[in-house]
Amino acid sequence: MKKRIIVGITGASGILIAVELLKSLKKIDEVETHLIITEGGELTVRDETNFDVYEIKRLADVVYDIHEMDASIASGSFLVDGMIIVPCTMKTVAGIAAGYCENLLLRAADVCIKENRKLVLVPREMPFSKIHLRNMKELADIGAIIMPPVMTFYHTDFSVDAQIKHIVNKILLQLNLPSNIIEWTGGKKS
Ligand SMILES: Cc1cc2nc3c(=O)[nH]c(=O)nc-3n(C[C@H](O)[C@H](O)[C@H](O)COP(=O)(O)O)c2cc1C
Repeated sequence: MKKRIIVGITGASGILIAVELLKSLKKIDEVETHLIITEGGELTVRDETNFDVYEIKRLADVVYDIHEMDASIASGSFLVDGMIIVPCTMKTVAGIAAGYCENLLLRAADVCIKENRKLVLVPREMPFSKIHLRNMKELADIGAIIMPPVMTFYHTDFSVDAQIKHIVNKILLQLNLPSNIIEWTGGKKS
């Protein structure tokens, strides 16, 4: 059976990271992607990118409506290997931390937590408030992986494109999927 990975896109800045992730996952034969986009996510796709949301949806194997509360991924009996929320808003972080499942994305994340499955969040805000940090700590304490889209300076290509690819490769590593990560091979030798 293929690895089922849920990708959640919410209304934070950084939609291009989600697009790059979906493109990378599409190239991995062993993976089947299940996509949910919040209403905020659809708005941010429109405001921040030149993509039509349908172009993004076409990159996934299965797409759900955010209000489809009876979808397969709303139940723990539907086996999935993990969920990535990228980019993840502070609203969605708060919703997951509170166990408040008012849309399918929040419910799917809640299911991952209760079933002890991998949950990776790419939270995006700057600066983080104490409320944001408290909610993220709550989630880290129960095993969620919190990986804000932090820039990397140890390779030579500093373009936004290279930064996005690096973040995506770090996410793939978390899910034990093939990744083209540029490894740090040690500091300069004197
Ligand atoms: C263009 C745009 C960029 C935004 N960027 C962020 C962001 O980086 N982080 C964040 O927490 N909210 C951001 N927001 C606000 C969220 O979209 C808003 O709180 C929304 O209700 C989140 O809902 P969701 O989590 O269901 O997608 C942004 C909104 C817009 C329109």
